Amino acid sequence: MQIKKVGVVGCGLMGHGIVQVAAAQGGFDVVAFEADQGALDKGIARVEKSLAKLAQKSVEKGKMDADKAEAWAAGARARITPSTDKADLADCDLVVEAIVENLDVKKSLFAELGATCKPETILASNTSSFPIAEMGEASGRPERMVGLHFFNPVQLMKLVEVVRTDKTDEDVFAAARGFGESCGKVPVGCKDTPGFVVNRLLVPYMVQALEMLDRGDASKEDIDAAMQFGCGHPMGPITLTDYVGLDTTLFILEGWCERYPNEPAFAVPGILRRHVEAGKLGRKSGEGFFKWDGDKRS
Ligand code: CAA
Ligand code: NAD
Repeated sequence: MQIKKVGVVGCGLMGHGIVQVAAAQGGFDVVAFEADQGALDKGIARVEKSLAKLAQKSVEKGKMDADKAEAWAAGARARITPSTDKADLADCDLVVEAIVENLDVKKSLFAELGATCKPETILASNTSSFPIAEMGEASGRPERMVGLHFFNPVQLMKLVEVVRTDKTDEDVFAAARGFGESCGKVPVGCKDTPGFVVNRLLVPYMVQALEMLDRGDASKEDIDAAMQFGCGHPMGPITLTDYVGLDTTLFILEGWCERYPNEPAFAVPGILRRHVEAGKLGRKSGEGFFKWDGDKRS
């Protein structure tokens, strides 16, 4: 099963990164889809900025000369077709969904994709927390459905979790795994369990850090410094929540609490809900637990 053309639905924090690694590292033709032209323009601008940055770094590190680096970035950009028309996804070999973490919205998208895409198209979700099997059922082609869970920032994080359901075809799973490898990632296979491997461990840890902050056990700076310098994490859990997006973190936890009310590791910290209600969504909105100016935190 050969993947040549890839569709990515949603060009936000995660989607723009998936578009980029598929085109730049994987060499695939990529349709970058957003329903709204403004969101699409914003996503493509982020890809262009990131490609320029990586090209510049390759020159600085002596990996490429300036002309080659510019050609690399231009080549990747040329393989990307921005679109607001779902019909452009119809002949893709693989479509990866990276839209808002809302199961009903995802299911209705997969129902549309199942009806629109050619029969061989593999459908994949980048969901952080929802069952892949339910999206597969909604698509009408559960045997061609997988999870492809990339990590933020997609351009820099090496992992992709490849999630199979009881119904995923073996060759679909193998093709999805191969796609992850082509994008320069290390794929790990996972069953369709809540949070797969990483988020099942990581999100409850973030919850504990936020509850600690809410109780006033330590300042946000000290909680972060403790995990950075005590455990060698690249960033502390409060900064990480800003990085992931407070809205996305809340959606993950609300979904889990509703579905698994007896699981004590799944809880919605009050401080998280209050920040989201105040419009503080993290780095992407300019303020979460910290204030952000692009990559700079204060
Ligand atoms: N494109 C291109 N370049 C980028 C970039 C991007 N998207 N993002 C950052 N860079 C660049 C930076 O600008 C920087 O460039 P310079 O060296 O020229 O300044 C360089 O890459 C390295 O960035 P940093 O200086 O910020 O370097 P760092 O060593 O602090 O690494 C990090 C950054 C990789 C994000 C690191 O802090 C890290 O690993 N953090 C933890 C991230 C993490 O845990 N992610 C998982 C989140 S959970 C998830 O994703 C799952 C889910 O479902 C919620
Ligand atoms: P985001 O809010 O940055 O981006 C979502 C994008 O989807 C937006 O650009 C929005 O315009 C678009 N969108 C929403 N509904 C749409 C629809 N019906 N059709 C087309 N486009 C639509 O969110 P994100 O952080 O990129 O998260 C996207 C997905 O990736 C979620 O499922 C999330 O759980 C998952 N994820 C997030 C992270 C993270 O750290 N933020 C990491 C891994 C996985």
